[in-house]
Amino acid sequence: MLKPISLEKILFSQGFGTRRYCSDLVHAELVKVNGALAHDPDERITPENLILNVEGLDWEFHEKAYIAFNKPPNYECSHKTTHHPSVYSLLPKPFVERGLQCVGRLDFDTTGLILISDDGQFIHRMTTPKKNIGKVYEITTPEPITSSQIDHLLNGVVLDDDPKPCSATACELLSEHTLAMTIVEGRYHQVKRMMAAVGNHVARLHRSAIGQYTMPADLKEGEWRWLYPQDLSLLSKSVDAE
Ligand code: URA
Repeated sequence: MLKPISLEKILFSQGFGTRRYCSDLVHAELVKVNGALAHDPDERITPENLILNVEGLDWEFHEKAYIAFNKPPNYECSHKTTHHPSVYSLLPKPFVERGLQCVGRLDFDTTGLILISDDGQFIHRMTTPKKNIGKVYEITTPEPITSSQIDHLLNGVVLDDDPKPCSATACELLSEHTLAMTIVEGRYHQVKRMMAAVGNHVARLHRSAIGQYTMPADLKEGEWRWLYPQDLSLLSKSVDAE
């Protein structure tokens, strides 16, 4: 059970600006608390199940933010981008203000599921290879995918930056040119380099699942959604189960 805290502090915690700015928002009658117009920034509120509305934007209170995002192509998973716009430009501003970070990165041309959070321990838990969390990639190739390529991926390939081989933990051929491959590590361009190492290459790459959490079918490219305890337990279940 969370303790009651002032509305101004709640707004600040959610990323709506400095405490001074949040106080001004309330005085300017731009904040609603569970549907009722707020007047006092010092009013103490229990944040549990709280729905804010700030400058017309409905906002669920979350002490820590955990979101799933469907990354479109041609966006970089970085705050300081080089050649393409940032995925953060597709998220509501409060997320950027409160310092949300991608849990690992996808290449600019990779699409699909990415988790984003401001919980450092969660980010660490989800990215350490020790936890064995499988990430499923759907790979489309220009050349047909052969059974010997699949055997090679499952048995392990050596990439040029590390003598330790990396292997797929599962491979499912979806069509002659499409493979669903599960890996637990997150080395630089790992899937593309693994496919090149077995003599094929990646034309399109899409991440469809992390652990036992699969991209929701109705989450369109560029859209995000909150992860709730049942989603998070699915992610942590996969830590133990895999
Ligand atoms: N492997 C890659 O090569 N690229 C990605 O974006 C993710 C995994």
